[in-house]
Amino acid sequence: MEKLFGKKNTAILISGRGSNLRSLVKYSKTKKSLIRIVLVVSNNFNAKGLDYADRSKINNVVIKYSNRKSFEDRLLKLLKKNNVDLICLAGFMKILSGSFIRKFNKPILNIHPSFLPKYKGLNTHKRAIQNQDKYSGATVHIVNDKLDSGKIILQKKVKILKSDSEKSLQKKVLKIEHKLYPKAIIRFLASH
Ligand code: GRF
Repeated sequence: MEKLFGKKNTAILISGRGSNLRSLVKYSKTKKSLIRIVLVVSNNFNAKGLDYADRSKINNVVIKYSNRKSFEDRLLKLLKKNNVDLICLAGFMKILSGSFIRKFNKPILNIHPSFLPKYKGLNTHKRAIQNQDKYSGATVHIVNDKLDSGKIILQKKVKILKSDSEKSLQKKVLKIEHKLYPKAIIRFLASH
């Protein structure tokens, strides 16, 4: 089945709201989708995205994050069991170890709310506004063992207006994220 349609079995990792998860699920339901979402994993029992996965009837699992090693061991088992070919991090707030990345040995993508290499890590919108930047943006990149530093697949800028607050900028960036992530997946899978 899987090979016949050439779709990648995809796991989405989340920690919270899950608006990117929603955009990826919508994309996965389009005729030309290159992915099939087989699993949603969260480290957080209260992640809103889990309700959406439930409503969408997507297998979803919470793995308690007591420490990185036990979390990653359980995650690896789950990924194998579900024949996952691709991981998309979508607001997943934990850092995956180099050892996990090597053991999984398949692509892991992430979406980050800044125009990388600017503002790796947290509070990207706050920092862009404090520095009076003229633009911000969003980036989809391959995950490697350095935070927000893997190869960039696709990125898009948004203008920061004088009137923008951290909240309004976040809203604008999130809007472009929802289009950017599916596009980046298409671009990435076209060459892999
Ligand atoms: C997004 O801004 C994403 O770029 C970042 O975390 C946020 C997650 O939002 N990594 P959501 O949970 O997808 O709504």
